[in-house]
Amino acid sequence: MNKITQLFNIKYPIIQGGMIWNSGYKLASAVSNSGGLGLIGAGSMYPEVLREHIQKCKKATDKPFGVNIPMLYPNLEEIINIVVEEDVKIVFTSAGNPKTWTSFLKEKGITVVHVVSSSVFALKAQEAGVDAIVAEGFEAGGHNGRDETTTLTLIPMVKEKIQIPIIAAGGIATGRGMLATMILGADGVQVGSRFAASIESSSHNNFKETIVKVKEGDTQLTLKELAPVRLVKNKFYQDVQELYEKCPSKEDLVQLLGRARAKKGMFEGDLEEGELEIGQIAGLIHEILPVEQIIQQMITEFEDACKEKAKFEF
Ligand SMILES: Cc1cc2nc3c(=O)[nH]c(=O)nc-3n(C[C@H](O)[C@H](O)[C@H](O)COP(=O)(O)O)c2cc1C
Repeated sequence: MNKITQLFNIKYPIIQGGMIWNSGYKLASAVSNSGGLGLIGAGSMYPEVLREHIQKCKKATDKPFGVNIPMLYPNLEEIINIVVEEDVKIVFTSAGNPKTWTSFLKEKGITVVHVVSSSVFALKAQEAGVDAIVAEGFEAGGHNGRDETTTLTLIPMVKEKIQIPIIAAGGIATGRGMLATMILGADGVQVGSRFAASIESSSHNNFKETIVKVKEGDTQLTLKELAPVRLVKNKFYQDVQELYEKCPSKEDLVQLLGRARAKKGMFEGDLEEGELEIGQIAGLIHEILPVEQIIQQMITEFEDACKEKAKFEF
């Protein structure tokens, strides 16, 4: 038992990060059935679609699961009400102020975790009364902080400031990565990119195959003026770079981004015009695998690495 397995009543301290267009009930329930904590990503779902996924997830697993709610999308209140009505017990909030909803959710008996990218925000989340925080380094796929703080530096700095449990995120796809962040002070890990390239992820196969092909250096954090996001350097990314050369206004960037780019790339499989959100660790992901196998590999590797203590003696 550790702080995270105890908090969520799960076997392994591995959380599958909520991921727009990737983490529907199939992925979340597969992770929960394999001993981790699966999260349904509400960010890409209309409220009634979310309700359907929660109901299907309850049928697909009798293990704990949660919902990730990025607070930057419209319909926020409706989403929160559905989560409460459907009796979801765990909520991970991100991309917003943890003060806004934490006490409301806690009053409903929900365990609340907030995602942060700095120790300042970690402190604010702790003050807002969350049960744990996800500290996410800038290696991570998806939206991220502007400061470019890496997971290696973020985890010990957050650990110095806060007392509640810490879940490390960003760049973790193996048992060794997991052990490294836990040695730095994390109590568990949140994994995104590795699960985006799983059989059960709801993203388009073109996107999954791209993740497998991505090499070191093929992703970049961009669009910092809007909401910083790590993307594969595809045609859309190059279009953004060309626009930057013309010193664009925020409105120019908004116009180029347009609507539904992430859906186009990750769900519809348009590898040129779509946004392809993935983390730096994709360079280490070489196969699309079933969730159960991913988790078993991570745990075996974690345990093997723990036995190698003698290797570090000098
Ligand atoms: C395709 C994709 C979509 C994501 N969407 C969300 C999201 O909707 N909400 C959120 O809080 N984080 C989102 N993230 C971040 C993940 O939940 C997770 O914290 C991150 O992927 C961890 O870093 P890693 O990619 O290096 O594993 C997304 C990440 C990816 C790769």
